[in-house]
Amino acid sequence: MPDLAYLNGEILPIEKAMVPIEDRGYQFGDGVYEFIASYDGRLFMLEEHLDRLERSLRELSYDPIPRETMRQAVVDLLKRSGYPRAGIYIQITRGIAPRNHAFTSGMAPQIVMTIRAVSELPEKLRTDGAAAITVQDTRWERCDIKTIQLLSNSLAKQKALDAGCDDAIFVTNQNVVREGTSSNLFMIVDEKLFTHPLTPNILPGITRLAILQICQSEGLPVQETFFNTEALYGADEAFLTGTVTEVLPIVRVDDKPIGAGTVGPITRRLYALLRERALA
Ligand code: PDD
Repeated sequence: MPDLAYLNGEILPIEKAMVPIEDRGYQFGDGVYEFIASYDGRLFMLEEHLDRLERSLRELSYDPIPRETMRQAVVDLLKRSGYPRAGIYIQITRGIAPRNHAFTSGMAPQIVMTIRAVSELPEKLRTDGAAAITVQDTRWERCDIKTIQLLSNSLAKQKALDAGCDDAIFVTNQNVVREGTSSNLFMIVDEKLFTHPLTPNILPGITRLAILQICQSEGLPVQETFFNTEALYGADEAFLTGTVTEVLPIVRVDDKPIGAGTVGPITRRLYALLRERALA
């Protein structure tokens, strides 16, 4: 099955898809993105991803792109690829212009997508849990917009791998625990879930939303509130959520065991419920 790209309305092999060097995404990081996964050929929470994409465009004063154009493009790409378990990356940049910090309105946005089979996390990570380090959150003040400016995220992830861990968790210099490098974070204390509230400092994750909905229907209490590293170190369970991450147990943070240092029962249950929902 082929890995394909979508480039402004045209579907072509990935290696054939090119963008000009004066694309503002390339020169200024002036772009937004989404990453959507399919399960058994069905896109999980597509409308929620399109909602967030439209919001990102609006927040950066891009001209709106008709939802039907985006939805149809994603659906066509999935169909053409034939992948049952696909990861679709969508990137929209403001367009192409001679390099100038200021931009004019009405530029033609560049719409690019790629589709590949999802590269699943190793099974061992799911059964044994992941180890994380905390890193200072050096990102800008609008992490709620899903922009392609991911250098802090990329450096933090690499730092975690270099330290022999699996991921990094952003913490502010006021000791507020934010989120992972490409995921949101939950902790569980006394059978109650805690996660950072939706503010401009974290991404409103679609998987986070799915977990909140699942918790509500299961009667599991959740509090969207700020917490610090001491609270996290002392939690019974912790997990990351994201489109490919799904629900990933975190069993060590900064070399301290979370709970018993093994995957906890609520995390395991939420992972099963999320998969059930995605495959329903
Ligand atoms: N990342 N927080 C950050 C900083 C993220 O980059 C992501 C997603 C999430 C989780 O969002 P969602 O549940 O909607 O996937 C939270 C994507 C997957 C990426 O960068 O590829």
